[in-house]
Amino acid sequence: MKNIVILISGSGSNMAAIVQAAQQQDWARTLDARVAAVVSNKADAGGLAFARQQGIATEVLDHKAFASREAFDAALSELIDQYQPALVLLAGFMRILTPGFVGHYAGRLINIHPSLLPAFTGLHTHQRAIDAGCKFAGATVHEVTAELDIGPILEQAVVPVLPDDTAKALAARVLVEEHRIYPLAVANWLKRQN
Ligand code: GAR
Repeated sequence: MKNIVILISGSGSNMAAIVQAAQQQDWARTLDARVAAVVSNKADAGGLAFARQQGIATEVLDHKAFASREAFDAALSELIDQYQPALVLLAGFMRILTPGFVGHYAGRLINIHPSLLPAFTGLHTHQRAIDAGCKFAGATVHEVTAELDIGPILEQAVVPVLPDDTAKALAARVLVEEHRIYPLAVANWLKRQN
């Protein structure tokens, strides 16, 4: 059985979409995979309660308790590795990861980013798309490499930017698509391993 570990920092709606897809599509039987743990760097991350309700192991590792990014990432990978993951998913995990961490999970680390990469890496993607006059925005699921928000693209979804759009309205429109393409990208990744 392939273990998936999902890292979150906030509401965890993408994590929930993946957990629900795993249940509905019976990934344990069809893809020999399961969500083994949800890890958050914030104790108050909303998604933790959902994961617990689903009977999934949860872990909290507060980055503020560590003196450096390297020390946090070392402790984080030690925690993750207890689950011997075939795949580690970043789902709204709002920490920049060190090259050491990314290298350790090379080929089995995936992220979702709320823009049409390679446009708008980093933060505030929706406001920046609106400010740039983009007619379309979207989301990208990609493999994580050492450079922030760069790496082979696995799935993308496009939504229109509407006249008088706000970042909040656009984010909500994009999020609906995120919940569709992240489980899809993960299922396809797992299929390629089987
Ligand atoms: C999602 O929109 C995700 O794409 C974004 O944070 C949100 C998390 O929502 N990720 C990033 O901005 C990563 N740089 P969620 O916690 O409800 O899944």
